[in-house]
Amino acid sequence: CGIVGYIGTQEASGILLEGLRKLEYRGYDSAGIATILEGEIHCVRAKGKLHNLEEKLAGETNPARTGIAHTRWATHGKPEEYNAHPHMDMQQRIAVIQNGIIENYRELREELKARGCEFRSETDTEVVPHLIAEELSKAEKSAEFPLLEAVRSVVNKLQGAFAIAVICADYPDEIIVARQQAPVVLGFGQGEFYCASDTPALIPYTRAVLNLENGELARMTPIGVEIYSFEGQRLKKKPRTLDVNPVMVEKQGFKHYMLKEIYEQPGVVRACLEAYFDTEWSAAKASSPTKIGLSDAVLDDLQQVQIIACGTSWHAGLVGKYLLEQLAGIPTSVHYASEYRYSASPLTKNTLTIGVTQSGETADTLAALAMEQERRSTLSSGFEARLLGITNRPESSLGHLVPNIIETHAGIEIGVAATKTFVAQVMAFYSLAIDLTYRRQARSSEALEQLLDGLRQLPAQIELILESQERYIEELAHDFAETQDFIFLGRGINFPIALEGALKLKEISYIHAEGYPAGEMKHGPIALLDAKVPVVTIAMPGTVFEKVLSNAQEARARDARLIGVTPMDEQEAADTFDTLIPVPHVDEILSPILTVIPLQLLAYHIAARRGLDVDQPRNLAKSVTVE
Ligand code: G6P
Repeated sequence: CGIVGYIGTQEASGILLEGLRKLEYRGYDSAGIATILEGEIHCVRAKGKLHNLEEKLAGETNPARTGIAHTRWATHGKPEEYNAHPHMDMQQRIAVIQNGIIENYRELREELKARGCEFRSETDTEVVPHLIAEELSKAEKSAEFPLLEAVRSVVNKLQGAFAIAVICADYPDEIIVARQQAPVVLGFGQGEFYCASDTPALIPYTRAVLNLENGELARMTPIGVEIYSFEGQRLKKKPRTLDVNPVMVEKQGFKHYMLKEIYEQPGVVRACLEAYFDTEWSAAKASSPTKIGLSDAVLDDLQQVQIIACGTSWHAGLVGKYLLEQLAGIPTSVHYASEYRYSASPLTKNTLTIGVTQSGETADTLAALAMEQERRSTLSSGFEARLLGITNRPESSLGHLVPNIIETHAGIEIGVAATKTFVAQVMAFYSLAIDLTYRRQARSSEALEQLLDGLRQLPAQIELILESQERYIEELAHDFAETQDFIFLGRGINFPIALEGALKLKEISYIHAEGYPAGEMKHGPIALLDAKVPVVTIAMPGTVFEKVLSNAQEARARDARLIGVTPMDEQEAADTFDTLIPVPHVDEILSPILTVIPLQLLAYHIAARRGLDVDQPRNLAKSVTVE
């Protein structure tokens, strides 16, 4: 979900709607806005995307200068208007928006009901305005800031991960914001102040921002912002300056953010090369080829690496495992964060735990890392937590949680389906694997030099794929507008790319797709094959090239239409596939950065051809800050 708040001298509603537009990637099942108008809360909500709310508000003049707004990704309760935020107390004097989950809401709801409270929604959030109303009625009239005190007392009763913003008609010059494990950033203007789940909502208005930390409240007024702890202590904090270019969050002539972000990938790979590697490095140099800035205490004497992530980041982790094992020779396991947090592997000594999350806010990934840190904190030498985060948002909750970060230099990604952040995560794994390979002398300097040369070619090679293949893939997509099932096959380092190709397709086109290791197809998925099921196979020359081609032949014998992602001049591949999507020749170990590009384009064009909302696919959200 996305939350936004404004207090100041301008009309709040326009600023709040603009903020929601920038946060819509966080959820778009329903939206709502509450302002304080002539001593009353004025609340308007609508089911579905933001434009439904905008239509409802069209023609309305609302001079209110204080307000909060929300865009929802449904967790508790269907995406209906009555479940949309803001939620209010019975007297309709208090309005609350929330991002996260209040875990003890059932208990609180029953208690409130027993005290005569009536509920109008199925959400966990609605307990909050009712509880605040109770606290306010009890509050000492002499208290300096009664609304702050009431909210503070309520947040201390809430369990779970949440961020809330509260307004009250009796305190028209205040917004109270609280954070517990869900992101909130405050924005500082001239006589006006903002709060939001994420910085894109603030970029049009201010560069001076402050991230609220867990267990902190903010009292926003038109003259300033005060920060308090949940215990009630006033805290001193200074805003920082946001380093972003507003152009980064515009579409720049592309039909969708996703397509724009696909096209940004050559630049992203260049930025990563620049950030991670000594560009002058050659085998003759005595220094390390990388400059990722991690200490020996984190990287020396590793016996094991464990990677924890969700979604596309988990796929980047699978590529990482391949690199860490095949290049650096370190046993590596990859875990879904949502699984790992409740069934962690037995502890091993000298283990590096890596959390991969582009947003740095995915609740499961954060919880799994916190759990790993906690369970290692009391153990003997060798078992201590060596934690590393790979993220596109170093200022995120992940950045606060772990002591070591490799930043992925992708720039803000708006499309819900990850593209450029995936490629940047894989680049981070090349740098880490090469750093460890060098440390452990697992490969000769000459072999590393060759690898670095290959990495430097990648941006131009991605450009070549985009220039030469996009039109062709767009046409090819026409053939699949009615297709119901797809299979993606790959082996070795390209198996995760088969998974990613399938995930991209299902996320945005709603076509059922499965990624499989090509050698496993005969143990199940082959039963699905017939002339109606296209099989996309990644076949790059290297250790498994011949094997993949013979797996593809097995599909051919079942009449499936075979599409090959493979180098242009490989005769055997050309003879095997019905349709070729050529990519440049490249060392197999570097090939994922190239092979993923046509699969992103294929998913994009099939979804666009079907007329779907590519940037905001149904039921998904870009950052999932709930368990
Ligand atoms: C959501 C997004 C995915 C993303 C996953 C993990 O499900 O829709 O695109 O891969 O979260 O996000 P993270 O920010 O942790 O990489």
